[in-house]
This record gives sequence, C-alpha cells and structure tokens, in this order.
Amino acid sequence: MRTIAEFEAAARERLEPAHYDFFAGGAGDERTLRANEAAFGRRSLVPRVLRGNGKRDLAVEIAGSPLSMPVLVSPTAFHRLAHPDGERATAEAVAAAGTVMVVSMAATTAIEDIAAAARAVAADPSLWFQLYLQPDLEFTGSVVRRAERAGVRALVVTVDSPVFGQRERDHRNGFHDLPPELAVENMRDGSGSVRDIEMSAELSWDHLAWLRETTSLPLLLKGILHPEDARLAVAAGVDGLVVSNHGGRQLDTAVSTLDALPELAAAVGGVIPLVLDGGVRRGTDVVKALALGANAVGIGRPVLWGLAAAGREGVAEVLARLREELDHTLALCGAGTPGELTADLVR
Ligand code: FNR
Repeated sequence: MRTIAEFEAAARERLEPAHYDFFAGGAGDERTLRANEAAFGRRSLVPRVLRGNGKRDLAVEIAGSPLSMPVLVSPTAFHRLAHPDGERATAEAVAAAGTVMVVSMAATTAIEDIAAAARAVAADPSLWFQLYLQPDLEFTGSVVRRAERAGVRALVVTVDSPVFGQRERDHRNGFHDLPPELAVENMRDGSGSVRDIEMSAELSWDHLAWLRETTSLPLLLKGILHPEDARLAVAAGVDGLVVSNHGGRQLDTAVSTLDALPELAAAVGGVIPLVLDGGVRRGTDVVKALALGANAVGIGRPVLWGLAAAGREGVAEVLARLREELDHTLALCGAGTPGELTADLVR
C-alpha cells in the first residue's frame, strides 16, 4: 500500500461497516467533508526552478514542541475500534516518526498508558492532549492535572462542538456508543466511573480565561474558521490555532479549511502558529496549506486508515509516505524548508 486511498480501501475491508462509517462519515449531506479535499484539488502549484536547494530540512517547531516534519496527528476518538492495539500503537508510530500526536479526550486508552507507549519508543516524545471543556469545571481541571502529570506538552481545546454534529451514517447504522468492553478512559472520575463527554453551548471566552489561569501549558484552540475569532483568540493569550471544521463532522456546509486559511493567516499576522486540518491526503496538499499560511497540518482519518489496515506499522507507513511526498514536492517546487513556501506558489 502506497497511498492513503489504498490504506482507506484496506481499512474498509477489515472494519465492521458501522465502524468504517463512523470513521469516514461527516455531518448532514457531507458537503464540508468533500469540500475539504476538493479545495486542495482546485488549487495548482506554480513551482520555482534553479534555486540550488540541494539539502532539505522538514523540521518545524510549533508551540514549543519540535516536529520532524510539519505534519502532526489530529485527535480522533476510539482507536481501539480501529485496531486492538489502539492508541498505544498510534503513539508508538508517531513517537518513532518524531512528530506530535494529539490524544483525543475520547481516547479508548488512558493518557498515562499512551504516554508510556510513546516513551518506550522515543526519549522525549511530544504528546498534546485534546480537551472538550466540560461544564463541570472542577472535573475539567482534574483532567487537565492528569494530562499534565502524564507529561503532555500542550492542550488543544476543541471549540467547534457546542452540540454534537448530526452524523446521518451513524443514525442509519444505529451506532451511538462504544461496545461494552471499551471506554473513554480519560473520563474516569475519582470513583472510577466513566463520565460521558458533555458538549455545551454555554461555553464562552470566560471559560477559556479560566483554563488559561489553571494551567501553564501552551493552549491551542481547535475549530477556528472565522477571522474575528482568530483575533479574539490572540487577545485571549492563546498559543496557537487549529484551523479545522472537525473533518466535516460538525457544521455541514462550513467553509473548507483551505479556503478559510488565507483570511485567518492575515488576521493572526504570524503572531501565533496555525495548524490546518481536514482533507490532507498528499504531500502536495501539505505544501499548498503551508504556502497559504499554515505552519503545519494535521491528519485525522489517514492515521485511522493506517491503524485499521496494519496497526502500528500502518500508521508508520502513512507518516513515512507523507514525509516522502512532502520532501519530493518541496524539491520539485524549488524549496529547501517549509518556511520557504510562499503564497505565490499556489494558484
Ligand atoms: C475526529 N475529530 C476529533 N476532533 C476532536 O477535537 N476530538 C475528537 O475526539 C475527534 N474525534 C474524531 C473522530 C473521527 C473518527 C474523526 C474522523 C475525526 C476531528 C479531527 O481531529 C480532525 O479535525 C479531522 O479528522 C481532520 O480531517 P481529516 O484529516 O480526517 O480529513
């Protein structure tokens, strides 16, 4: 298997249809889901030549974490539905690749065990933890403390989910919950019982200010699409943004992330880093996002396809292919580093 499309086909053969649909699907008519990938297809590269860039270096640093390439792993729920080794396998592959895994609050493995798996592979792995702020702030605080103790290097607060997206495939399949042998392990409270993740439309910038006070970890907001929100985030002292529409799983017909990116980059003006996710499937997609203002990209489903197809090896392969493609595309565009990619290379 060489391409992410091939990994998806292999994953689809292995997964139960309802689980494949849970991973693959989006909200409503899945217009945004399709638009994310289509936005990359609508743009062309205009390469430069004779630039003498013989040595390429893909490394970047985002919010204090070093990445061996400008590709990180976006948070996705329920890895043990994709493969019995679940988040541990993902963490090992990502740590070995030297990039960041953003662990989902809805992981099916405890953050402490994910961190141990990553540390068995790399001396100083970079794990970030994704948080849905819970209306019970005391409980939210206890989850943050747990993530801090496990050694995570940043928190990613997902803000695009005041209510849960309407995923028609899941309704049709009757898929609403994990099988009884699996649980969202990071939602255990003091008594050991597992809480449901609550989505809340009551959340506001005040809650973010509370979080800013409660932790010294870098904070990134995930799910920003409107430039005014990007400005408010900078004013709130946030350390980075993830330009994301949740892979088309929340608001259907929301703007594709690549289309939203240039205005967000202008609004933020380089003060804090931007990570774009949604529809990144090829090295050329990474180059287009970086050229239009992202500092890195995130991948969600490609990692799940690698995991479902071949466990840790599959995730490792997906990351290796993207790295190879990105390096190759940089060479063909006459660029030596991610930082050299500029908007004039994209039409
Ligand atoms: C997600 N995503 C997500 N985001 C988040 O903040 N917390 C979560 O628990 C999840 N869970 C989740 C599950 C599944 C199955 C998918 C596909 C996605 C969204 C994810 O972080 C990311 O924004 C998208 O997946 C990016 O789009 P691509 O790369 O999947 O096209």
